[in-house]
Amino acid sequence: QGIYSYAVFIRLFSAMEACKDAGLAKSIGVSNFNRRQLEMILNKPGLKYKPVSNQVECHPYFTQPKLLEFCRQHDIVIVGYSPLGTSRDETWVNVSSPPLLKDPVLNAIGKKYNKTAAQVALRFSIQRGVVVIPKSFNPQRIRENFQIFDFSLTEKEMKEIEALNKNVRYVELLM
Ligand code: A2P
Repeated sequence: QGIYSYAVFIRLFSAMEACKDAGLAKSIGVSNFNRRQLEMILNKPGLKYKPVSNQVECHPYFTQPKLLEFCRQHDIVIVGYSPLGTSRDETWVNVSSPPLLKDPVLNAIGKKYNKTAAQVALRFSIQRGVVVIPKSFNPQRIRENFQIFDFSLTEKEMKEIEALNKNVRYVELLM
C-alpha cells in the first residue's frame, strides 16, 4: 500500500463501486487499511458505497484496539486474519513473537471451559465483534474451530485476554 498514491486508492475504490453497480459484487471491503487510508475512502468525493469490512491481522497478541473502535464508529466490520497466530512459516511470519496458542492465559481459561487455546482465541475475537477466518488443513481442527458458540467469556476474562496485546504483528507485509 505504501506505493499507492491517494489517486490510485480513489480510482481503485471507484472501480469497485462500479463492480457493485454492475451486479458483480454484493458488498465491497478492503484489506490492510489503517485509519488514515479508511478516512481517504470515507472522504472520497461522491462516495456511493462505504467499505463494509476491513480485513486485517487481529488476535489476542495484536488486538487493534484503536482501529477496531474507529471501524465500529463507521459501521465497518473487522475481519481478523491469522486469528490463531499463523502457521509460523518463517518465510513470511515474524517468528520472534512467541506462539499465540502456547499462551498460559489462553490455556488456563480454556481448561475452565474444557476448550482449547485456539477456541478461546477465536471466542475472544467474535465476542468483541471481530469476524475470524482461521485456517486449517485438518478436518478435526476445522470442526474444533466451529465449536465456539456454546460458551462465553466473562468480562474479566475478556479484559485479561485484551491485556495480552503486544502490538506486534506476525505478518509484517514486507513482501
Ligand atoms: P493445521 O492446518 O495443521 O490445522 P491462522 O488461522 O492464524 O493463520 O493459523 C493457521 C495455523 O493454525 C495453521 O498452522 C493450522 O494448522 C493451525 N491451526 C488451525 N486450527 C487449529 C487449532 N484448532 N488448534 C491448533 N492449531 C490450529
